[in-house]
Amino acid sequence: MAEPLLEISGLRTGFDTHDGTVPAVDGVDLTVHAGKTLCVVGESGCGKSVTARSILRLIEPPGRIEAGTITWHGDDEPFDVLALPRDDERLQKLRGGDIGMIFQEPASSLLPVRTVGAQLIEAIRIHTGMDKKAARKRAVELLAQVGIPNPDQRVDAYPFQLSGGMCQRIMIAIALCADPALLIADEPTTALDVTTQARILDLLRNLQAEHHMAVMFITHDLGVVAELADEVAVMYLGKVVERATVEELFADPKHPYTKQLLESVPVLGRDRGRDLPTIPGAVPNPLHRPKGCSFHPRCAEAIPGRCDIDEPPEVVFDGGRTAQCVLYDDGQGGPA
Ligand SMILES: Nc1ncnc2c1ncn2[C@@H]1O[C@H](COP(=O)(O)OP(=O)(O)O)[C@@H](O)[C@H]1O
Ligand SMILES: [Mg+2]
Repeated sequence: MAEPLLEISGLRTGFDTHDGTVPAVDGVDLTVHAGKTLCVVGESGCGKSVTARSILRLIEPPGRIEAGTITWHGDDEPFDVLALPRDDERLQKLRGGDIGMIFQEPASSLLPVRTVGAQLIEAIRIHTGMDKKAARKRAVELLAQVGIPNPDQRVDAYPFQLSGGMCQRIMIAIALCADPALLIADEPTTALDVTTQARILDLLRNLQAEHHMAVMFITHDLGVVAELADEVAVMYLGKVVERATVEELFADPKHPYTKQLLESVPVLGRDRGRDLPTIPGAVPNPLHRPKGCSFHPRCAEAIPGRCDIDEPPEVVFDGGRTAQCVLYDDGQGGPA
């Protein structure tokens, strides 16, 4: 197994509201290994984006990180990102330097009034200290690397002159400008059409191989997980309910939530003209978390009198995969 690069342990992030604190992320443990891709998957509202933003301490009030550790194993001594003073230079170096981040909405992440080149050059200069001329040269190289045609002209374009797919490539170029050890991509293709989406995924895969980067890829789409992941974490209502390698997850899903997610993915040939099952109900508001296992009201395998009473334990299987579900509990923290 590759070395751990980022280890999240017991992360809790909440948002203070009039009705109480929304537990958006409620005790998350995750590890990203060097050079590998961890996909974080789950329906909308499960806490994926809040987890990603917590890593870089980008949570604004009324949100706050309440507990946990986030250990970064860079080149030097490992340190806890959450324990750093706000103005610590290691935190500045992490954001956009050691860790590149791509957000879902390319249009809202690029400034409309500045050329894409100016924005890319600024990012390069902040993280590498290059002079203007060298940074411009690097910017053109990066645009070529992310597949932008005529990069020496496009460098002077404004975002509105480019398609959504091109803007997303620019965001990837910005995220890669300091050769990060980890790229966090939060649903980077959700706003794009399927053809552009496939091209961007190809691009990310190639860039990862070239740069030996680790990737934390957030998506609600299991088809994307199958294509990209080495390891998978399935999130439901602020918790990681299953963790496995991509092979294990697709061959033998353990958690009923994972099984139900997989059943709602169309399979070529099998599902033509067939209505796919969807998971009944919606992700509940985290302020009104169901008692016991928070998935039990939607679960096809829930055991009355048990799943609606007790929080399920995390069961660790041989080889290290986990599931938070009583179906596998032998009462001693091992698989039944
Ligand atoms: N600024 C905020 N104020 C209150 N609640 C928030 C805020 N941002 C996120 N949340 C809540 O946190 C939960 C997790 O959100 P998020 O991480 O964005 O989910 P995902 O990315 O999995 O779709 C949701 O219930 C959402 O309503
Ligand atoms: Mg999100």
